[in-house]
Amino acid sequence: MCGIVGYVGRRDAADVLLDGLSKLEYRGYDSAGIAVFEDQQIRVAKSKGRLLDLQKKMEEEGKPAGHAGIGHTRWATHGEPSDRNSHPHGGGSVTLVHNGIIENYKRLKEFLLSQGRVFESDTDTEVVAQLLDYYYEANNGNPIDAIIKTSRELEGSYALGVVFADFPDMVFALRKESPLIVGIGEGESFIASDVTAILKYTKQYYLLEPGEIAVLSHRETKIYDQHYQKIEKELKTADWDVSAAEKGGYEHFMLKEIFEQPTAIKTTIAPRITDGLPDLSECGITPERLTGFRRIHVVACGTAMHAGMVGKYVIERLAKVPVNVDIASEFRYRDPLVGKGDLVIVISQSGETADSLAAMRLAKSLGAETLAIVNAKGSSIAREADMLIYTHAGPEIAVASTKAYMVQIAVMYLFAFELALANGSVDEAECRRLTGLLQETPALIESILAHKDRAQQIANELITADSLLYIGRGLDYALSMEGSLKLKEISYIHSESYAAGELKHGTISLITENMPVIAVATQKRLFDKTVSNIKEVKARGAKVVLVCDEAYVPEKDVADLKFGLPEFDDLLSPMPAVVPLQLIAYYTAVLKGTDVDKPRNLAKSVTVE
Ligand code: F6R
Repeated sequence: MCGIVGYVGRRDAADVLLDGLSKLEYRGYDSAGIAVFEDQQIRVAKSKGRLLDLQKKMEEEGKPAGHAGIGHTRWATHGEPSDRNSHPHGGGSVTLVHNGIIENYKRLKEFLLSQGRVFESDTDTEVVAQLLDYYYEANNGNPIDAIIKTSRELEGSYALGVVFADFPDMVFALRKESPLIVGIGEGESFIASDVTAILKYTKQYYLLEPGEIAVLSHRETKIYDQHYQKIEKELKTADWDVSAAEKGGYEHFMLKEIFEQPTAIKTTIAPRITDGLPDLSECGITPERLTGFRRIHVVACGTAMHAGMVGKYVIERLAKVPVNVDIASEFRYRDPLVGKGDLVIVISQSGETADSLAAMRLAKSLGAETLAIVNAKGSSIAREADMLIYTHAGPEIAVASTKAYMVQIAVMYLFAFELALANGSVDEAECRRLTGLLQETPALIESILAHKDRAQQIANELITADSLLYIGRGLDYALSMEGSLKLKEISYIHSESYAAGELKHGTISLITENMPVIAVATQKRLFDKTVSNIKEVKARGAKVVLVCDEAYVPEKDVADLKFGLPEFDDLLSPMPAVVPLQLIAYYTAVLKGTDVDKPRNLAKSVTVE
């Protein structure tokens, strides 16, 4: 939530900041703003709305000209989206941008008001700017002392980019909980919430640890600890290519990312398969380490939680270990029965989701072992887990997750196969067969992507609907949940997912003439039962879209439209079968004219609870 950037170098700072913010807009787009040193003075430009609105404003009012500054793209938490609540915020000599939430801002604000300070916005961020300035004044203008004193007072999460009017062309940064990297280029340096914002300029960066303070100037970049001691850090190299954060000829990032799925699967699974068998030793996970867990809990949010649902079916079927799947925000507050002997798997694309991180910390404190399945390298969840499997999807820019989900389930399969083999519930030959099938999925998905026009035709039939249902049984139910979320979040059509057999216990009363029902029926052993449920909705007037084996020819009383899938194994069918659901959601949103990559009210990285 919210993205911040900072720059010191020879380039036009406003251009670099705006370019960086364009890569971070997925983190929020309620407002945008920059502060640049122009002729030794801080000049701020900010506006409610998208980055485009800020750019338009600057065309009219002039762009701040200079070589150092900070920038922000906002997902509003405290204070409505408006010009006055947009970052950067100021207090005396201090101007700053903030990603996170200051939980004790009310108490701090009361104190600052009692000191005669005046506030101009409703944000928690302005409190930080005022507090920093308060300590800055009290410390005879020493910025680092002021930063250290301020950070000791702040409760909550923050990544901050700060400029002081008395220190032209210098950018200060610090973080707790919210992510922040410090990029190092040739004679220039950067700060950013995410490496994608700096890839165009450099691949070298430091991961700032909680409490560390970065000081960027034209001469050098220094990092201090909370005792004002200079520290040396390991310089990391991003393995993402700059093109990964560009649209590459696609109309939207979401479509590009749907098409990147075959490659993402290959890159994720190839290093974890040896001699035709799963091998997670690259991630420090051995069969010995996996056996002996009495129970597994999967904890995640949204799409990542749906990947966990697929994992539950597969692990229970193959490895015979009971699996609970929990929404992280529920898990952390319901006194979960978790402890020694349990494995808690946390799935997260960003690795920064506040509820998932808190759930993982809770699980650790209760004595469980934790395994993180994460896409963003060096993120908080990745760093704090006992065991870690990185997914290699590359940067996912569209807010609606597609390729990250795909590789999350690919990893769940590998994990289930390895666990089942280690437990002895699956023999080597069967494990080899299953692993071979997993390796076939990229080609299978390529063949489905070639039929994207079919998804477009189906989308044409959905755009006038007010409400939709997704139904399925077993693994198809888990997929229906994902299909339904994808459609509603980007097309704004209300949609629910239901276990097909559950409809007649209440929900079937919603069916009216021509209401679309998307039925997923890939499970051969459940196929006839699902078809019976489909007939029940069809008989009540529903317009049924069936996602099933291409060889099946539905009668008129079963389906109106069909998306056919190549014949495949039941257990692994979620990987190919989710693709038409993603494409249908995508084209429905495109036809409705919504902002596909940045749907309203959402942000990609949810770092608040
Ligand atoms: C939906 C979507 C979200 C995320 C959820 C968790 O398309 O992307 O539901 O899956 O916010 O995010 P991560 O995976 O970053 O923890």
